[in-house]
Amino acid sequence: MTGPELSGRVAVVTGARRGIGAAIAEVLLDHGATVVTSGRDEEQLALQAEVLGKRGRVIPCAGDLGTAEGRARLLGTAGPVDILVNNAGGFTHASTTLDSTPDDWGRQIEVNLTIPFLLCQAVLPGMVERQWGRIINIGSVVASAPQLGNAIGYVAAKSGLVGFTRQLAAEVAGSGVTANVLNPGTVKTEHLEEYFAASDTVSERTLSAAIPVGRLGRPDEIAALVPYLVSDASGFLTGSVIDINGGAIHA
Ligand SMILES: NC(=O)c1ccc[n+]([C@@H]2O[C@H](COP(=O)([O-])OP(=O)(O)OC[C@H]3O[C@@H](n4cnc5c(N)ncnc54)[C@H](OP(=O)(O)O)[C@@H]3O)[C@@H](O)[C@H]2O)c1
Repeated sequence: MTGPELSGRVAVVTGARRGIGAAIAEVLLDHGATVVTSGRDEEQLALQAEVLGKRGRVIPCAGDLGTAEGRARLLGTAGPVDILVNNAGGFTHASTTLDSTPDDWGRQIEVNLTIPFLLCQAVLPGMVERQWGRIINIGSVVASAPQLGNAIGYVAAKSGLVGFTRQLAAEVAGSGVTANVLNPGTVKTEHLEEYFAASDTVSERTLSAAIPVGRLGRPDEIAALVPYLVSDASGFLTGSVIDINGGAIHA
C-alpha cells in the first residue's frame, strides 16, 4: 500500500455501514489505521466488520448518535480518537421552506450539524492535549450550490457545518489539530438508489445531466482524498472546504 502510513492511529467513522462512510473506512484500514465503525444497525455493522476485518483492525459500535448514550458508547469504545470522520447524515425526504415542519427541520439539523458538533467537542480536548488530530466533516455540494429536491433543513445544516468547522479549525490552529470539510457532489450510493426508487421525477439520468463530468460520483472517489487529509503531510491544510463534485459548483 502506498501513501500515508496510519498505523497506530485510531479513526472513528460515523455512518460507516454503507456508502461514502464504508468507502472511507476501507481506505483508512488500507492505510493501517484502526477504524471504529459507527451506525445504528448493529447486525449489519457486525456483518460488515467481518468483511472489513480482512483489511485491518475494525471495531464496530452500534448506536444512535442522536442520543447521549449512543455518543458515549462510541467514544468509550474508541478510547483516544486521532481521526474523526463525521460522515453520518443525509435526509429522508425532500422539503421546501414552505412545507418543512419544525420536526423535519430539527431532525436535519440534529443529524447533519448537531451530532458532528458534539462529537468534535468530545474528541477535541484529547487531540489538543496530544498535539495531533484530524477532523473531517462530510458536508455537501448543497452548501455552495442550491439544488431543488433537497430538504431545506439539510441545506441549512450542511452550510452550518462549513461555518463551524472553519471556526473550530481557527480555534485550535497551531495545536497539531486540523479540521476540514469535504463537500461531495452527487454520489451513487444505496441511499441515492432508494431516493431514485421513491421519486417520479429524479433519476440517475436527470442528476447526471446537471454534472459537467456527465455522471454521478463514486464513494471511492470521495474516500480517496481522506488518507492525505488525515496524514502528517496535511498539517498546513485546515479550515478548508474541499469540493468533489464533477464540476457541479456554480457559485
Ligand atoms: N450520496 C450523495 O450523493 C451525497 C452527496 C453529498 C453529501 N453526502 C453526504 O455524505 C454522507 C454519506 O452519504 P451516503 O449517501 O453514503 O449516506 P447513507 O448511505 O445514507 O449513510 C449515512 C449513514 O448515516 C448513519 N446515520 C444516520 N443517522 C444516524 C444517527 N442518528 N446515528 C448514527 N448513525 C446515523 C446511517 O447509519 P445506519 O444505516 O446504520 O443507521 C447511514 O448508513 C452524508 O453526510 C451525506 O449527507 C452524500
